[in-house]
Amino acid sequence: MSGCETMEKLAMKRVDDFRLRLGKQELVPIVVGGMGVDISTAELALEAARLGGIGHISDAMVPTVSDRRFNTKYVKNKLRQYKFNVANTEKAVVQFDLGLLVEATALHVGRTMEAKRGDGLVFINCMEKLTMNAPRETLRARLKAALDSGIDGITLAAGLHLGSFALIEDHPRFRDVKLGIIVSSLRALQLFLKKSARTGRLPDYVVIEGPLAGGHLGFGMDWAKYDLASIVIEIRDWMKAEHLDIPLIPAGGIFTGTDAVTFMEMGAAAVQVATRFTVSNECGLPEDVQQEYFKAGETDIEVNTISPTGYPMRMLKNSPAIGSGIRPNCEAFGYLLDSTGSCQYIEAYNREVALHPDAKKVKVMDKTCLCTHMRNFECWTCGHYTYRLKDTTRRNEDGSYRLLSAEHIFHDYQFSTDNKVALPD
Ligand SMILES: Cc1cc2nc3c(=O)[nH]c(=O)nc-3n(C[C@H](O)[C@H](O)[C@H](O)COP(=O)(O)O)c2cc1C
Repeated sequence: MSGCETMEKLAMKRVDDFRLRLGKQELVPIVVGGMGVDISTAELALEAARLGGIGHISDAMVPTVSDRRFNTKYVKNKLRQYKFNVANTEKAVVQFDLGLLVEATALHVGRTMEAKRGDGLVFINCMEKLTMNAPRETLRARLKAALDSGIDGITLAAGLHLGSFALIEDHPRFRDVKLGIIVSSLRALQLFLKKSARTGRLPDYVVIEGPLAGGHLGFGMDWAKYDLASIVIEIRDWMKAEHLDIPLIPAGGIFTGTDAVTFMEMGAAAVQVATRFTVSNECGLPEDVQQEYFKAGETDIEVNTISPTGYPMRMLKNSPAIGSGIRPNCEAFGYLLDSTGSCQYIEAYNREVALHPDAKKVKVMDKTCLCTHMRNFECWTCGHYTYRLKDTTRRNEDGSYRLLSAEHIFHDYQFSTDNKVALPD
């Protein structure tokens, strides 16, 4: 067959020609990736599951999300408890109550799982970088609570997770729940497998996230030198040589069904996608922010280093979080406090205050208070192809872009051919 014919054949294939096998289950090979802080809502994850794929909720700032979803008062009560420390530059004293953290996670996960319909699965995206002033204990509490509350699977994200399997190896569900890891390089995967080998359990799937993804990136500021397909091939070939058979799920910049098919033909078991769903009705972003995503052009998106996690992050350049010099809000939030109770934003903020002692408000350009700004949907993190979202819908009479149903987007990935994107009726 000529190269041209091969391309034509590929263009006519659909994602629906493939299935993801996870244990005994057969799924539509579309995974909607986790988008913290409640951007990938329970509603969005539940739609992906109803349609036979996999959806993710996120465990980022769950007490905060629970307050919004269930009208609990975790944040208010924590702020009340630590109010005495608000003006203090040191935040080490601010601790999470593990019992309450478990309670909030149980609510978020439990209610989501109760609402699940259909043959798909709901997983939780669990970020190691949410160090919460006690990295091991808070991570263990979150993982255990998610397992206790019936989550179908846990995707370990934002970190190498070298000790995460060990944290839950004694849990009765450790061997049946689906466990996966997100990596951006073969080396990260090798390290994870080596460190987790002692638990006698392999991951059930590996998400390979390339440099075009949204959220934090597993690359340095030289991200543009890497490409997803090469990393997938490197990992696929290494796994073959090692006789390892773990489903591989590429992510980052897979914008059309045909993009997805290209990866499936390469040996991927499924694809993980997110950006297209940021403009769905079920997504947690407020509609005015979703319109910003639609409006964005290619040059309106940047990868910067303002996240205090130390990972580069992609976002819209007009995100209100950029340059904002608000007082650190750790007494209410504090999700990024490291094991010594510090955060790069606190250091940056304190530096600016010391430099401008008479200023009523300071500007902090190099870091941002990510907890507060993610909570308020003011850090508009997005994937590289956000500038193509406008081509996936129609415009309303007032010039705004029409939001899409998650079902429409999911089916477009599942059934479209020839690099086409179906517009809504
Ligand atoms: C708005 C947004 C927020 C995200 N937040 C997270 C997150 O909290 N944790 C994570 O592991 N990945 C996060 N991601 C990455 C996605 O889960 C997914 O792997 C990736 O964006 C897929 O690429 P695509 O957006 O080009 O489809 C986020 C992506 C977006 C677009």
